[in-house]
Amino acid sequence: MSKINVAVFIGSNRKESYSKKLALALKKLSPQDLNLNIVNINNLIIYNQDLEDENKEPQSWLKLRETIREHDAVLFITPEYNRSIPPVLKNALDIGSRPYGQNAWDKKPGAVISISPGGMGGFGANHHLRQVLVSLNVPVMAQPEAYIGNIYALFDEKGILKDDRTSTYLSAFAIAFLQWVKTNI
Ligand code: FNR
Repeated sequence: MSKINVAVFIGSNRKESYSKKLALALKKLSPQDLNLNIVNINNLIIYNQDLEDENKEPQSWLKLRETIREHDAVLFITPEYNRSIPPVLKNALDIGSRPYGQNAWDKKPGAVISISPGGMGGFGANHHLRQVLVSLNVPVMAQPEAYIGNIYALFDEKGILKDDRTSTYLSAFAIAFLQWVKTNI
């Protein structure tokens, strides 16, 4: 089978985002036939249905929908904001879901990784996101789950993942995800 192309969405618009650092680490650890492309969702105009109703949809919305459709699968790597998902990610999810009846996320196999400096690993965000993905008809990999806690301690000063246990876990996660995508594509 040819390469599986995965659109990766980061729930943080911060320059030094640990979610992004984790995404870059996962990219390196993934099997060769799993190709992870990080999609920039940082500058999307906030969703407003009026723009759609008046045929004034921003180009960036159309591009995002096209990008989602072009990929075989979707992967979300997100921090938790107040026990939920950050607005930058919710905005992308909403934009991709519209116009009504043209949900770009429909049937794209997906997976979720949440991160946190705390011990709970972004559990709240992970499951709020899973709830949204059910509504968007994304078949989300159930296991292995990935709640990556203590995130600040896992990277060196250059932003390289230095924790072997996490590397091993992420490698296994990527292999399981590849299998998940192949069976749900
Ligand atoms: C946070 N943070 C946070 N962490 C957590 O584990 N649970 C939470 O509910 C929250 N809530 C929260 C709200 C807001 C508004 C901010 C700005 C931050 C901390 C957050 O996990 C931390 O800043 C991460 O480093 C953010 O991820 P990135 O930007 O490093 O990817």
